[in-house]
Amino acid sequence: MSGVEGRVVVVTGAGGGLGREYALLLAGSGAKVVVNDLGGARDGSGSATTAADAVVDEIRAAGGEAVPSYDSVADEAGGAAVVQAALDAYGRVDGVVANAGILRDGAFHKMTAEAWDAVLKVHLYGTYHVVRAAWPHFREQRHGRVVVAGSTSGIYGNFGQSNYGAAKGGMIGLIHTLAIEGTKYGILANAIAPMAATRMTADVAPPEVLEKLSPAQVAPVVGHLLSDECTDSGSVVVVGGGQVHQVKQFMTKGVTFAEVPTLQQVTDRWSEITDLSGAVPGVNPVG
Ligand code: NAI
Repeated sequence: MSGVEGRVVVVTGAGGGLGREYALLLAGSGAKVVVNDLGGARDGSGSATTAADAVVDEIRAAGGEAVPSYDSVADEAGGAAVVQAALDAYGRVDGVVANAGILRDGAFHKMTAEAWDAVLKVHLYGTYHVVRAAWPHFREQRHGRVVVAGSTSGIYGNFGQSNYGAAKGGMIGLIHTLAIEGTKYGILANAIAPMAATRMTADVAPPEVLEKLSPAQVAPVVGHLLSDECTDSGSVVVVGGGQVHQVKQFMTKGVTFAEVPTLQQVTDRWSEITDLSGAVPGVNPVG
């Protein structure tokens, strides 16, 4: 096979915004798509079947193959049901795009346990639930693709997004381990940090910025990461407005202490520890 032709891909949160673009591009490229969407509001409240149905109708009208799923990824049974929808309709699952998301922004001093849990449940747990259900199938067929929707908020942080940034950072952490564990089974796991004008970003940037950020610009990158030709795993790709960058972690040359240093010795050499000249890509010393 080549590209995503004939592959079965689950896209969560595909009833609107970026997920809809991923589903349309994948189906237009010959993939069979499970269009999952709970159909609620931006803050996660409510549910409806209309969002997923509309995208499935759009794909079918264009001659593509898709089925809807209305399950919430936020619980284990919902995540399993999303993958089951692929197995029931097409007999296999080749890729998961963990894209479903909600927002409950607020400065950290106003963060509530409810807003914290709700956001982690959809993004981080939702990713776990769906990918965990697909993983045995990926291993068995020695082929699988995972793409998670990270965010620059999970890489760099963003005011008012402690819950969202923690969830997105967790998703990026997850793909690094999935990349390691998946490698001998032909499973690749990557993250994107998209930037696009959707209902999620409608009030975070001025209209002149948003009009340059079409969600359609992100979809081909997701398509590549799902394709048979992709060889990357554990990559984090920032994509939006026509730009595509990989983000890497580097470690400084640092300092080696022959003996346990005193607090003062660490303070004295802090500028050497953090000096970026001669930095190299970071590796897990116990990996
Ligand atoms: P969106 O709000 O248009 O799409 C999110 C979709 O997820 C919605 O259709 C919603 O109904 C669905 N969803 C929410 N909870 C769900 C659940 N429990 N189960 C199943 N579906 C559920 O937002 P957008 O912008 O398209 O976001 C897509 C992903 O990209 C999100 O994970 C978001 O955090 C991420 N992202 C988007 C950015 C942007 O610039 N638009 C920036 C960084 C990350």
